[in-house]
Amino acid sequence: MDDSGERTPYRRTAAWYDAIYRARGRDCAREVASISRHWIDDGRSPETRRVLELGCGTGAHGPGLSGHGALTGVDRSPSMLEQARRTGCYQHLLEADVLALPRDRGYELVTSLFGVFGYLEHPAQLHAALHDAGRLLVPGGTLLVEPPILAERLQPPRVDHVETAFEGGTLARTARARTEPGVLVIEFEWTLAPGPGSHSPSDPVRVIEEHRMLLLPSAEWLGIARSALGPGFEVVLDEDGPLGRGLLVAFNRDGAVDTG
Ligand SMILES: C[S@@+](CC[C@H](N)C(=O)[O-])C[C@H]1O[C@@H](n2cnc3c(N)ncnc32)[C@H](O)[C@@H]1O
Repeated sequence: MDDSGERTPYRRTAAWYDAIYRARGRDCAREVASISRHWIDDGRSPETRRVLELGCGTGAHGPGLSGHGALTGVDRSPSMLEQARRTGCYQHLLEADVLALPRDRGYELVTSLFGVFGYLEHPAQLHAALHDAGRLLVPGGTLLVEPPILAERLQPPRVDHVETAFEGGTLARTARARTEPGVLVIEFEWTLAPGPGSHSPSDPVRVIEEHRMLLLPSAEWLGIARSALGPGFEVVLDEDGPLGRGLLVAFNRDGAVDTG
């Protein structure tokens, strides 16, 4: 069994990510449809709308989002970007951290789904990244950020196990969660056991990852977003969001973004 001790999220598991979430019944087309009401009345057509997806991961939302505009994806993980590239949905894919975004303003819609901003290490970084994301919008543009699990909705930690057929073998992921002050730590243990039908039968591959996510109450997410984006933005928290975890909705009212 190969256990390299590699704990950086997604470095070795990007090719497995979609299979696990498919097994859990994830429906990214439905997620995009559920958030589209936030921009569907912006008076634009897909031909004139530019869409930026921050933390695009494997590009699971690419097919849905690219139907609404010219799509650019950003992620810090090269292996996730490689998966996103294969979807063929992105006009541009950029390897970048949300803390070091390019400065070019010009998107009608900026989305970030499935807790990407939760991976920032400190609320001050969240503030900085939201500020920069807001600066990428045109006047009248919308920023949609799905937070990770909100502190007041956290369930008692439990072990979650998913298993699915994968390339002739079996892929499994066990998640174990614990909390530290202000942080939700989830350890993912991935195992790929090649089956007799695999192209190259070999020993199971085991990867352990540690995911550390900001654990903040909704009021703090909202407060940080309002402070980061400034008075030119109308910011609300949609309590439901695409997955029942909430969604920050920020509308750039007049384009008067604080450029400081
Ligand atoms: C939970 S996955 C979500 C991926 C995708 N949005 C989805 O819904 O499946 C989190 C993604 O955010 C990316 N990510 C985490 N922190 C980031 C950062 N600071 N800058 C850019 N990407 C980041 C990770 O590489 C990963 O692809």
